[in-house]
Amino acid sequence: MQNFKGRDIIDINDFSKEELLFILKTAKKFDPQFVKSDRSNYTIAQGKIAGLLFFEQSTRTEQSFRSAAQKIGMGIIGFNDPQSTSIHKGESFSDTIRIMDSYADCLIIRHPKAGAAKEAAEIALIPVINAGDGPNQHPTQTMLDLYTMLKEAGKLDGITVALMGDLKYGRTVHALSLALSLFKIKQIFIAHPTLAMPEEFLKILVQRGVEYEQFDKLPDNLQADFLYQTRVQKERFQDLNEYKKVKDKFILDATFKKFLDRGIKLMHPLPRVNEITPQLDTHPNAIYFAQARNGLYVREALLGLILGRLT
Ligand code: CP
Repeated sequence: MQNFKGRDIIDINDFSKEELLFILKTAKKFDPQFVKSDRSNYTIAQGKIAGLLFFEQSTRTEQSFRSAAQKIGMGIIGFNDPQSTSIHKGESFSDTIRIMDSYADCLIIRHPKAGAAKEAAEIALIPVINAGDGPNQHPTQTMLDLYTMLKEAGKLDGITVALMGDLKYGRTVHALSLALSLFKIKQIFIAHPTLAMPEEFLKILVQRGVEYEQFDKLPDNLQADFLYQTRVQKERFQDLNEYKKVKDKFILDATFKKFLDRGIKLMHPLPRVNEITPQLDTHPNAIYFAQARNGLYVREALLGLILGRLT
């Protein structure tokens, strides 16, 4: 039994393996693959209000939180264009948080600045969920990635996960690699040398006794349960010429079908640009759209847990 009532969800590293497994188990209660009817879920958080503060663009995270909140009976307030609020007139970040704190029962915040969600949590009295703070963290993405792997493989301990693409700048792969390191999971890193997994993360894996391998191109004989592809983060490059040199190095096109046929499941946090061609979308082992859908169940569970409406 875990108690998440009133808890902020800021950094994936704040969660133990047991806590993560509890969240994933709770998410199953909202997944139609495991429960026949979710009609009873509509009253779980009736009377509660979610405050969505999206200072930066989003499709999946914002819309799935909106959907998750309503599916468990919550009302929604908030914004996704800060210029439509009094921030436009010069109101500060901290005043905005204090005001939203008095109108809602939990806050869900996306912000381009690393540390903004933590700052909001220090100001707000109600629980705060980090929906992505710049290059730093996106913990609910990591949780839905873990949920997807558990659902597809039936287990986490004993699987092998390959992470590919922009391993230098991608917040998603950094957080995912650390979360995977809590389990007995072999990790494989595939990236152009200029976008390799940073040493600081590899050192943690060594300290935790995690088995890992690195490649500078996709190995033909890749042995993995999942390949997690990522977008090259154009916005993080100081020199656009450097971006242009690497942006098309790791595109997965129709030739990747043979890997999918062998049983490797292809994941991606989305949005994609060109790193997975749509020819792969219909393959049963291309699971990135199912992965995004799983975000709904994980977010329903998290909202119910932090509001103390689920145990
Ligand atoms: N994966 C993800 O966070 O997508 P959005 O930016 O669309 O929310």
